[in-house]
Order: sequence, then C-alpha cells, then structure tokens
Amino acid sequence: MPLVLVTRPVPQQAYDLLSGHAEVDRNDEDRQLEPAELLDRLRGCDGVLCTLGDRLDAATLEAAAPTLRVIANFAVGVDNIDLDAAQRLGMTVTNTPDVLTDATAEIAVGLMLATARRFASGDRMVREGRFDGWAPLLHRGHDVYGKRVGIIGAGRIGHRVAATMRHGFGCSILYHSRTARPDWESTLDARRAPLDDLLQRCDIVSIHCPLTPETHHLIDARRLALMAPHAVLINTARGAVIDEAALVDALREERIAGAGLDVFENEPALAPGLATLDNVVLLPHIGSATHETRTTMAELAAQSIIDLLSGKQPKHRVV
Ligand code: DGY
Repeated sequence: MPLVLVTRPVPQQAYDLLSGHAEVDRNDEDRQLEPAELLDRLRGCDGVLCTLGDRLDAATLEAAAPTLRVIANFAVGVDNIDLDAAQRLGMTVTNTPDVLTDATAEIAVGLMLATARRFASGDRMVREGRFDGWAPLLHRGHDVYGKRVGIIGAGRIGHRVAATMRHGFGCSILYHSRTARPDWESTLDARRAPLDDLLQRCDIVSIHCPLTPETHHLIDARRLALMAPHAVLINTARGAVIDEAALVDALREERIAGAGLDVFENEPALAPGLATLDNVVLLPHIGSATHETRTTMAELAAQSIIDLLSGKQPKHRVV
C-alpha cells in the first residue's frame, strides 16, 4: 500500500477516505511539524496532505523525491510549496479551490463592515467599562453602503466579494488584475483600473491575489500613501502582499482609517505595534474556517491523493 503523510490534524473525512487506499502516517498533535521532522517523515512517502504552514522548499522536495508523487495542499494558496521544484521532480501538486470561496468572501465582507464601523474597538470599549451611554459623537466610523470598493486580484473570491458589495451594498467596483474581466464589467458594472489609480479612488480596498514574487509587498509604503485618510484596507489573501511594518506606520499616523486583517506577513507573529492599534481588526487566519468548508477541503485533498495514486487525474491540479 502507498504511504501518505498527513502533517497535522484535519477533519476525519480525510482519514476515512484515505483508509483502504493508503497507509496513513498522521501527525495527531495539533502543531506544525518542524522542518527537520517534516523532512524526516516525508522520506518513503508516496503522498502528503499538508497545510499552508508546511514549507515544501526545493531541498525538502529533493529529499522526498525518490518516492513522493503527490502533494495535496489543504488550502487554495500554494505559496508554501516550491512549484518549480515539484514540477522538475515530477510531483503533482493539488489545492482546494472553489469550496472555500463563500467562506473566505464572508470573512472579507465581515472585515469591511467590522473595520469601517469599528466593531473591535467598540467591543473593547463596552467590555472595559468605558461605554458611558449614547452620544452623538461617540465612536463614529464610515458608511459602507454605496461606497467605491477596490478589488485586487480578480479570481473566484474577489468576484464573490465584488458581487456581494455590488448587489448587497450598492457599491461601485474597481478591480485590478493582469487580465481584463469582461464578465465582471457586464454583470457587476465593474471597471478595471491600474493599481495606483484604484488605491487613490477607493474607499475600501480588498486584497484577493495570490502571494508570488510579483505580489510580495505589492502594497508598500508608497502605495499606502496613495490611499485616502477615510479608506480601509482588507486582507484575506496572504499577509506578505502588504509590507506590514509600513502598514503599522500608516495606521499609527492615521493616514488611512483602518485595516481588517485575517492574514499576517510572518504568521503567527505580528509586526511590532500592530496589536496595540485601535484602528485594526485582527483575525487568526480563519477565512475558510467553517465546519462545512473545512470538511469539504479535507475530502477534496484526500480525494486528490487517491486519484493520483490510482492513476487518475486529480480534479484540482496546480502543477
Ligand atoms: C487558503 O486556502 O489559501 C487559505 O488561506 C486557508 O484556507
């Protein structure tokens, strides 16, 4: 029987599916394997079901290459895997797109509301006994209805967020992507814009692009300076798309109104000062964290391994 490593606990459905098709080496401790442990446990494996915290760099893949044939990432983002090395070594990499679109879009829209209307600092005010009663000037935020929303990255999640904001909140939509999306333009009345232009014109900016060498620090100090003082920045994609230290400066000096972040540049660490700011809403990378979505992700990742090991084409092959 082929040997499959599951690098940390995932919903039971993945183990149920794999049993009968593979011998499973499961890490039952809910912690990331250290790089050396990962490398060690990958030796002799035919497949691995891994998560976005597992660094599958060229050296690790080369060490696993004699046997490893399939890497099923329990995520849509695959920036933790050296895809060129995997391809060179003849390994198949799969991900879990589609099934997490709604859940992640919900978090992005939730962060827009929470950040523009200042939920987190309001919650702290009430809990800490600083709420002295209703007042006309108390804790004002910014409207969301009817505002201009900028979407960076025109994939599935970006589309779902754009559609929700267009149809649910009457927002106008600008988007930035490498290719034009005539479907967005016809169904959402969205307009494509150069990034700098989008940042200057939008009240809410939401990041939905993958992390690649080209998008690393795409939102840097210069680009943050283009945003309006009332604007909010939302990130549910990957932390390193934003220069987090530059973001802390912009937020501290109130050069933008706020940021809603589900992802961080050096997760789980935060840039110094970020957690002390009142104009941020911080979530622990829970974009896809619903019972329904995580179950489907587990099934999809396990099925990809089974398909590849039994000679079939997995549904969501990245390389
Ligand atoms: C992903 O899938 O890339 C998310 O960040 C985790 O679900």
